[in-house]
Amino acid sequence: EPGLRDLARPRGLSFGTAVRSEKLASDPALAELVAREADQIVPEWEGKWEALQPERGRFDFGPLREVLDFARAGNQRVRGHALVWHEAMPPWLAPALAEGPTQARQLLETHIATVLGETRGAIRDWDVVNEPISAPPGGDNPSPTDGDLRPTPWLSALGPGYVELALRLARQADPTLRLTLNEFGVYADTPWAQAKRERLLRVVRGLLDRNCPLDAIGVQGHLQMREPFRAEPFVEFVAALRGLGLAVLITEMDVREPDVLASGIEARDAAVAEYAGAFLDAAREGGARTFLVWGLTDRDSWLRVEPGVARGDGEATRGHPYDAELRPKALRARLA
Ligand code: XIL
Repeated sequence: EPGLRDLARPRGLSFGTAVRSEKLASDPALAELVAREADQIVPEWEGKWEALQPERGRFDFGPLREVLDFARAGNQRVRGHALVWHEAMPPWLAPALAEGPTQARQLLETHIATVLGETRGAIRDWDVVNEPISAPPGGDNPSPTDGDLRPTPWLSALGPGYVELALRLARQADPTLRLTLNEFGVYADTPWAQAKRERLLRVVRGLLDRNCPLDAIGVQGHLQMREPFRAEPFVEFVAALRGLGLAVLITEMDVREPDVLASGIEARDAAVAEYAGAFLDAAREGGARTFLVWGLTDRDSWLRVEPGVARGDGEATRGHPYDAELRPKALRARLA
């Protein structure tokens, strides 16, 4: 039976998933499924600062290498994630960035040069900056300022030029790399998501106006079924990015069900597939060609372990293409 990777390729599409190295090592059935289905894999943790530079100046490529080895064995591509993010920072990093702009710049430069030196050739695209856009008012966690960039230790240390700096350093360290900005919360048909789309577009246009290297935008796609979705504004957004000469990738799709939902597993799975399917169709219509899920199965989903995002009734999430017993669901059929 053909995997999603085989079904995608002849249509000019690519399918993939986030993975964790320890799951690949400890869960052979899951690993086999990932090898069969995914054309690309993304290290769920292994490319973050916490993993790569646990102590200042000490790099650890062990966990990332496990993902790279797995991918090489299965002839899969690997996306890097993420060179700059305000989460998964080792405890020493924020205080070190606060030492001053010269130190902060040096830390960023060393990290990017070291990591890209190590992964050159093996990883052809990286999320250079993850989630740089601020949260508009009206959502759960609005940013305390109304600037387009999220207030983070990076912004505090380096000012609004940090995004451009990171992109330029990445281009310099590995000129063959596809440079991506990755963002969440930009898909729904709500004023909040619309405001966030506008912020992202403004930041991207600013970067391109300054001739900053940038190749792609990652739309994370952590879908929430309680949010209304309408194709038109999202298609328009993806097309606007494509119009700027950028590729658009769906990088982290999964689905959060609202607390109250039709009971019965079949009805739930059908609803998840329908909601996600509308999003996938719109993304394709706008010009996205890469579709990655943030976990292939409910068994290894981050949604079941993150506080606050699992279903309130304590039932396991069903927001991934395969269930906890590794049986394909309606969402898997929708991705094929
Ligand atoms: C998540 C991982 O899946 C979790 O295991 C971890 O605890 C927190 O990070 N957006 C991103 C990803 O860009 O890096 C996040 O991954 C999910 C949200």
